[in-house]
Amino acid sequence: MLLDSFGRVATDLRVSLTDRCNLRCTYCMPPEGLDWLPKPELLTAEEIMRLVAIGVERLGITEVRYTGGEPLLRRELTEIVARTTGLRPRPQVSLTTNGIGLARLAGPLAEAGLDRVNVSLDTLDGDVFVRLSHRDRLRDVLAGLSAAADAGLLPVKVNTVLMRGINDHEAVRLLEFCLERGYELRFIEQMPLDAQHGWTREGMVTADEILAVLSSRHELTPADPVERGSAPAELFLVDGGPARVGVIGSVTRPFCGACDRVRITADGQVRNCLFATEESDLRGAMRAGASDDELAERWKAAVRIKRAGHGIDDPSFLQPARPMSAIGG
Ligand code: GTP
Ligand code: 5AD
Ligand code: SF4
Repeated sequence: MLLDSFGRVATDLRVSLTDRCNLRCTYCMPPEGLDWLPKPELLTAEEIMRLVAIGVERLGITEVRYTGGEPLLRRELTEIVARTTGLRPRPQVSLTTNGIGLARLAGPLAEAGLDRVNVSLDTLDGDVFVRLSHRDRLRDVLAGLSAAADAGLLPVKVNTVLMRGINDHEAVRLLEFCLERGYELRFIEQMPLDAQHGWTREGMVTADEILAVLSSRHELTPADPVERGSAPAELFLVDGGPARVGVIGSVTRPFCGACDRVRITADGQVRNCLFATEESDLRGAMRAGASDDELAERWKAAVRIKRAGHGIDDPSFLQPARPMSAIGG
């Protein structure tokens, strides 16, 4: 079991398959991109599967989510998903993606046993999309979304980060777009995880603001809190339900007390939190010949020292050295 000193148990493993991405969302990375990790530093598919198997078979991991960067850029993704769903006890397997390439891959991924996808979509306006992500790919994202639904990767969840003066006027439109198609939309508060260190509290559109705007057009009633469990999204029934919308208030409504997550970065480091200041090097240990037992012990030790919360409100808060794209979303 992956237990920390506050009694939280990590059962949800998020694995970053690459730090690369084919978009350049401003809340994540600069237009020119970043210095990507050199290939030899990335975990191989074999190494990924060894760690995921240790997590599932020995450490109580019940959910595995593949992220990036953009996980669809990883060539072996379908094979990795198939091998993950073949583990026993079978974990839930999901993907967080920007949707580009999903039009082609949704079918094969569903066949490999993938359970669900969460797709980022911040705007429905092609010009805003280019401004926000520095690439003209809105059409690919929309095609990816409908392919995911057609392939039965349900419920399809949509992640939206609102930014003041850029896409915050689209909140209601995005909600209606998702309601019409049966996607579960979640609005996410922007977090200080961008490579450029450009985050400001004033620039962040808060959960309160988002709910106020949505409530001006739709009736929102809190969904059963028991259902939320340790999920980051606070859910609301829209106009009496059954459709729902979520708000992920990581900054103003932190859920760290119920956190059940642990991450493995694309270069094989265990991170016990998005905002962790320390990592534990499983790749190095693995390549130096560590046994499965030794890797499990190292992993447990890394989770034991997880801090109580992200500390964004502390005067001494320092943004993590790694940006979101390298940590895994
Ligand atoms: P499900 O609810 O299981 O579908 O997944 P999810 O919402 O946890 O996953 P997703 O990858 O779609 O993440 C959505 C957003 O949740 C991310 O953009 C983050 O903003 C936030 N998030 C995910 N994990 C964490 C975490 O460990 N800490 C905090 N503070 N935020 C997180
Ligand atoms: N703050 C909040 N969410 C972010 N994401 C990427 N960077 C940030 C940030 N700085 C979101 C993406 C994606 C999810 C994995 O994380 O929109 O949906
Ligand atoms: Fe790529 Fe995701 Fe970062 Fe956007 S948020 S640039 S889609 S890794």
